[in-house]
Amino acid sequence: MTYFIEEYKTTVPSKIDEWKVAFPEKVVERFIKNYSKKGDVVFDPFAGFGTTIKVAKKLGRKGFGTEIEKEPIDFAKKNFNVNLIKESAFDLDLNKHPKIDLCIFSPPYWGPALGAKTYSSYIKKVGDLVKKIKKRMNKDSHLIVLIQNYCTERGLLTLAWDVGNVIKKQIKFKQDIIWCIDRKNSKRDMMHEAADHHYCLIFKNE
Ligand SMILES: C[S@@+](CC[C@H](N)C(=O)[O-])C[C@H]1O[C@@H](n2cnc3c(N)ncnc32)[C@H](O)[C@@H]1O
Repeated sequence: MTYFIEEYKTTVPSKIDEWKVAFPEKVVERFIKNYSKKGDVVFDPFAGFGTTIKVAKKLGRKGFGTEIEKEPIDFAKKNFNVNLIKESAFDLDLNKHPKIDLCIFSPPYWGPALGAKTYSSYIKKVGDLVKKIKKRMNKDSHLIVLIQNYCTERGLLTLAWDVGNVIKKQIKFKQDIIWCIDRKNSKRDMMHEAADHHYCLIFKNE
């Protein structure tokens, strides 16, 4: 499969998720079903509103995730009955958690994000995080990153390609699947204007 078409429809109301960062459940469900089995451990280091963990639980997987902001954590607890760990993914001691069968995430987009002062230090931080996660991934398990090249006021940023490049230094790049966003029911905005698709970058811990 090289692409699929799915609406950007999430269960988090847009007045709470104003930047539309939450994963649509259907999209994350597709990857959890295809890349893990019942009883497996699914980890999302940038858990946001807890979509990955909610869907993992619904599909009989054991999910855990970290998030630094209080609002999405409270939302996940109240609406999804999901407990997220309030800690930076960079500080989390993964040895205190079960080994990982599937890691899915979408990092906060460069804004600057992750406390990085420059774009290159942001990319390096993502690579360092994957290096740490890989040590706790079971053999032949997968890591999937959903990410865009996205529009800034200064032009289109090759975020997806740069993140993919840094991760492939740690873990084998197997496939990219393109999620084409069906926007018949949702409005376009600056961030999505030039990129009505996400890359779903699939890596395997061979
Ligand atoms: C693109 S959003 C992910 C949304 C998520 N996939 C969902 O379905 O709601 C990225 C999230 O990472 C969080 N974040 C930023 N820095 C973090 C860090 N160091 N550790 C853990 N989470 C962090 C942000 O607060 C944001 O909620």
